[in-house]
Amino acid sequence: MAQWVRTIAAAATSPYADSLNPAYGGGGRRVIARGPSLLLCGTTGTGKTHQAYGAIRSLTAAGCAVRWHAVTAADLYGQARPRPGVDVDVEWMLRDITRVPLLLLDGLGAAKSSEWTEEVTFRLLSWRGENHLPTLVTSNLPPVQSAGMPGRREVLRDKVGDRILSRLSGMCTDIEFTGPDRRFQRR
Ligand SMILES: Nc1ncnc2c1ncn2[C@@H]1O[C@H](COP(=O)(O)OP(=O)(O)O)[C@@H](O)[C@H]1O
Ligand SMILES: [Mg+2]
Repeated sequence: MAQWVRTIAAAATSPYADSLNPAYGGGGRRVIARGPSLLLCGTTGTGKTHQAYGAIRSLTAAGCAVRWHAVTAADLYGQARPRPGVDVDVEWMLRDITRVPLLLLDGLGAAKSSEWTEEVTFRLLSWRGENHLPTLVTSNLPPVQSAGMPGRREVLRDKVGDRILSRLSGMCTDIEFTGPDRRFQRR
């Protein structure tokens, strides 16, 4: 996680660093350009969302002028779903979220999935993957069934499909969160 923050911060460039006018050299705040993405997986309450926001905070603290957006997958689908009487331009909203320099997509695979949610997620992740826009994805499900897993547990691949999983594995480094649910520990 800390390694990821360092990578992103190092890749962030000063807006005027390449300027021919030396008076502008390196003076500006650095902006996030491109960088790797992370897939944070682990059961509920293991601290994925907490860590994801922590990473965003570290980047802003490191002086990266970053425009970021955080949304849960469920809210994203809720907001993007065309509803009668609500006049939101869904394409524009999605376009905005897709292109934000730093995105946290929280709780992927938690919402009920459909062909439509898959399409929305696939387009979002494809574009961000192709353009190397840093994206933090969290999920309560492990990405795929692995040898050590007891029985037939539900995995992210079952929930979001092969296309999305393959996008994710192409663009993200996996980080596994383990441990008890922190929400219960504090009582
Ligand atoms: N490193 C931490 N230190 C203190 N509190 C934490 C830490 N990580 C998580 N928490 C708290 O534990 C609870 C669950 O964390 P959260 O990030 O929401 O888990 P997840 O997203 O994995 O379900 C939250 O109330 C959060 O504030
Ligand atoms: Mg969470």
